[in-house]
Amino acid sequence: MLTSIKGKSVVVTGASKGIGKGIARVFAGQGAHVMVVGRNADAAAAAAAEIGGGAKSFAADVADWEQAQAMAKATADAFGGIDILCANAGVYPQTKIEEMDPSEWDLVMGTNLKGNFLSVKACLPWLKKTGEGRIILTSSITGPVTGFPGWAHYGASKSGQLGFMRTACIELAKYGITMNAVLPGNIITEGLEGLGDDYLKTMAASIPLKKLGSVEDIGNAALFLASKEAGYITGQTLIVDGGQILPESLEAMEQA
Ligand SMILES: NC(=O)c1ccc[n+]([C@@H]2O[C@H](COP(=O)([O-])OP(=O)(O)OC[C@H]3O[C@@H](n4cnc5c(N)ncnc54)[C@H](OP(=O)(O)O)[C@@H]3O)[C@@H](O)[C@H]2O)c1
Repeated sequence: MLTSIKGKSVVVTGASKGIGKGIARVFAGQGAHVMVVGRNADAAAAAAAEIGGGAKSFAADVADWEQAQAMAKATADAFGGIDILCANAGVYPQTKIEEMDPSEWDLVMGTNLKGNFLSVKACLPWLKKTGEGRIILTSSITGPVTGFPGWAHYGASKSGQLGFMRTACIELAKYGITMNAVLPGNIITEGLEGLGDDYLKTMAASIPLKKLGSVEDIGNAALFLASKEAGYITGQTLIVDGGQILPESLEAMEQA
């Protein structure tokens, strides 16, 4: 049984749907005070109302420094500080390099990579004060471990998050802050469903556990990394993918 995180103040970016909403629901279910963040104010408010447990919402684009600062201040004002940041907001338009407009590269990097940096920097003054702050990044298997056509920019951003983390966690250790990353495989979310039925079926068939993950699978991993018991773990990656990265070939799956 992990020590309770009841009453902790938690910012979850990209929490109006998908994995972020799952993370927010798992933390709220444990009695934490959760700030649901997304660009669309109505969607973030609706998600907070659905999650319940006193969850609040704030509209912010994490790629914008002013808005990231406003998000952190609003959370601290609402809940008396910030104990945990789940930097989860991300986008994954699928475009091959030959067709990719440079502006799409900037959008993906701005949201997924710079957005992590700005969220961490904005929340830092309050995370420092706790003496045991926790930062959990949502990275991906795509980039750090695997590749997939159309996601060169995305993979670069998700690998970049880990490079950022490995230096940031050394800098922040003196404040008792830990930073770790969860690397989801294919998780059923509104965003992933948009890739179509064929993608979802083929993907499930290539996963040893034969199913896509749930948003709660990622929420539970984040919850562990945010716990007191995980306090000696920093700068690490936790893959949550149903074994997806393990088969060496199609044959490895067929012979099982
Ligand atoms: N689903 C998967 O299988 C999977 C696998 C590996 C990694 N991931 C990672 O998990 C994270 C969430 O993915 P998801 O599938 O849950 O995506 P999703 O269903 O598309 O949800 C994305 C969330 O992020 C918010 N968001 C997007 N850009 C933002 C910005 N600039 N500032 C603030 N919020 C922003 C969206 O709300 P607004 O549009 O209102 O801003 C929404 O709440 C991403 O980092 C993604 O790379 C997902």
